[in-house]
Amino acid sequence: MSKSQFGIIGLGVMGKSLSLNGAEKGIKLSVYNRIEGDEASIVHDFITEHENLKNILGFSNMEAFVSSIEQPRKILMMVKAGPVVDAVINQISDLLDANDMLIDGGNSHFLDTQKRYAKLQKKQIHYIGCGVSGGEEGARKGPSLMPGGNQESYKLVAPILEMIAAKDKNNNPCCGFIGTDGAGHFVKMIHNGIEYSEMQLLAELYAMMSLHMTNEAISAVFTNWNKTDLSSYLLEITAEILLKKEGDQYIIDSILDKAGNKGTGCWSSKTALDLGVPTTMMTSAVFARYVSSFKEKRVALSNLVATKTLKLEIPDMSIIEKAYRFARIINHHQGFQLIQEASKEHQWNINLSELARIWTNGCIIRSELMQQLSGLFKLQQAIFEDEAILKILSNSELAISEFIQSAIKNRIALDTFWSAHNYWISMTTERLPAHLIQAQRDYFGAHTYQKIDVPASQFFHTNWQR
Ligand code: 6PG
Repeated sequence: MSKSQFGIIGLGVMGKSLSLNGAEKGIKLSVYNRIEGDEASIVHDFITEHENLKNILGFSNMEAFVSSIEQPRKILMMVKAGPVVDAVINQISDLLDANDMLIDGGNSHFLDTQKRYAKLQKKQIHYIGCGVSGGEEGARKGPSLMPGGNQESYKLVAPILEMIAAKDKNNNPCCGFIGTDGAGHFVKMIHNGIEYSEMQLLAELYAMMSLHMTNEAISAVFTNWNKTDLSSYLLEITAEILLKKEGDQYIIDSILDKAGNKGTGCWSSKTALDLGVPTTMMTSAVFARYVSSFKEKRVALSNLVATKTLKLEIPDMSIIEKAYRFARIINHHQGFQLIQEASKEHQWNINLSELARIWTNGCIIRSELMQQLSGLFKLQQAIFEDEAILKILSNSELAISEFIQSAIKNRIALDTFWSAHNYWISMTTERLPAHLIQAQRDYFGAHTYQKIDVPASQFFHTNWQR
């Protein structure tokens, strides 16, 4: 019997969808899942359910799985990020031969990927940390793929990955080598950070708009925006979510207002703090989720201070639209800036235009803006270097401030819109009050300060109390 071209470990939602995607594209596949606990029948059920697909072989024995794959083997792990990845690596690496390849398609932390990459390199096993975005549907129909590791390894598996990936508007695969060691997982992490802010912006819009508008009316506005430069996958699904009913009740109205998270937004924010890059929007979005999770405390406090929803007027849709465009640009600027700085730090040499192109389809943050950015980064290093973008931002400044002012009067928290506005104001202000911070630092800690019009190499200290 001829051997399989590719192996997939882990038949969770993503593993199953990717297997079906690959099999339907004609790739001969071996799939593996463990048989412990409630996973006992996963492989059997999956194979039975898809017995029409003759090119998938199912295994629950790791040795048999490994030997069913042609050499050099290429095996994708779709298992939970964290210790499970290490457990699978430990279990399988002794069964592999030199030049075989392991690919981690989960949301692993890039620092873990760097360690695993180094460890497996010593065993002459190719290791690829591959960001996979698009959720279940993306995995099934074509995800956006962000492989990192090294170019030579990537070349060996590129035909398969590019076959299962989504296609951009020119029919090129939304997949390409991102950079060495953990670069693929790094950009996937930041993808999620950008995703957190994009989601929070929509939630904040909804909070404001629903003061005076029905779910249908809001959905109609989002659907219209989706025909413009504001279009995005997240906007599209939000318009759909708002209309979905169970019986005669909107599902959205019955969902508990506590946002969950699996950690990638937090990791992105921590990384930004470590690198000194101000990603204020994604960080605000993470905190907004955390604040939402204090439901019981919020209920108790809201009863204590007896706050009323005011339902004062909100700005025109044209103003809100401008504010939204403004905030999205700032969000993408901050996210890509973080990638650029990390790329310098880790010498990944990430091509931002190519990355934006990979994100134009298949992934959760695909959008018309992303399409524009893939062109912009061919000419500029940063979004703020583009004159047309700067013009949009400065022309929308009044709109976002009007939107925020209305939110304040209505007692609606707009964490991410506000972060976007503050960032823009600070970044376009010549003199910030940071000189006072410097004076305070010098007062209590003799941390010294620099002076205007004096070479930056010179530091001064004042004896403030004398
Ligand atoms: C994707 C998503 C996906 C997922 C994350 C984030 O690109 O397909 O980003 O990876 O949604 O799990 O989820 P949390 O909101 O739970 O952190």
